[in-house]
Amino acid sequence: MNSLSEKQHVKVALITGAAGRIGAQTARRLHETGMNIAIHYRNSEEKAMALKAELESTRPNSVATFQCDLNVTADLKGLVSEVESRFGRLDVLINNASSFYPTPVDQMSEEHWHDLVGSNMKAPLFLSQAAIPLLKQTHGCIVNLIDIHGFRPLKNHTIYSMAKAAKAMMVKSLARELAPEIRVNGVAPGAIEWPDADGQTGSSSEEQEKILARIPMQRKGEFDDIAKTIRFLVLDAPYITGEIITVDGGRTAQQ
Ligand SMILES: NC(=O)c1ccc[n+]([C@@H]2O[C@H](COP(=O)([O-])OP(=O)(O)OC[C@H]3O[C@@H](n4cnc5c(N)ncnc54)[C@H](OP(=O)(O)O)[C@@H]3O)[C@@H](O)[C@H]2O)c1
Repeated sequence: MNSLSEKQHVKVALITGAAGRIGAQTARRLHETGMNIAIHYRNSEEKAMALKAELESTRPNSVATFQCDLNVTADLKGLVSEVESRFGRLDVLINNASSFYPTPVDQMSEEHWHDLVGSNMKAPLFLSQAAIPLLKQTHGCIVNLIDIHGFRPLKNHTIYSMAKAAKAMMVKSLARELAPEIRVNGVAPGAIEWPDADGQTGSSSEEQEKILARIPMQRKGEFDDIAKTIRFLVLDAPYITGEIITVDGGRTAQQ
């Protein structure tokens, strides 16, 4: 067996927005199962390179990084082609990248719309479209990061909530269209680690206390709660498609 065909026998996962937080933890969880990982990033090059070095310390040549602004739809096919050139196949697409900030209705603009709908809905759709030929070859799967606020609105985040609601419908619609070759599922996190301080989310410690009081499990989620659910959908759920698993400590189970 030559080195290229050896390479082609190892499963490959492309994870968008994977330089940090949920995306990076998902990369760790899938990498430790033996997969090769395509880390996509937009601005976080340093973090992406650090994650590549961390993962490759246990398995050399198993990770590659790819830069792309996902809001440039014309570049999405190129991103998939670059992954194919590097690894020779694609088994898993994780649509994780997302922008997130408030858009109070009296302040929102078309620019906000393009950015929030772009990363949370349009790019996942067209990146999935670009990946379908490769995923069909491997009978692969797509996992989409939704949000409990795709089902119940987050105040002052109308555009984000609308985009996640549409992404949830995309899961079910693509699952019907792409079965039986490709499974399409989603994970809907509740409050996981608070967004980065520069994320302009407006979640003060008082608001964070209020959120925690509504979570039956009495803690916010951790990145690994989401990463392990994604790993389950990728590796242990061959009869699950069109499903969105809520991972929110029971928050939406109560009024
Ligand atoms: N964290 C939570 O509590 C929570 C709750 C509910 C749902 N979720 C969902 O879970 C997923 C991951 O959450 P997270 O908090 O880990 O994400 P995050 O850190 O807020 O964002 C992940 C990455 O998305 C990338 N991104 C944003 N817009 C992009 C664009 N136009 N093109 C390319 N990349 C873009 C950024 O990459 P660069 O830094 O490289 O620019 C960013 O680092 C998201 O879909 C989010 O909506 C998270």
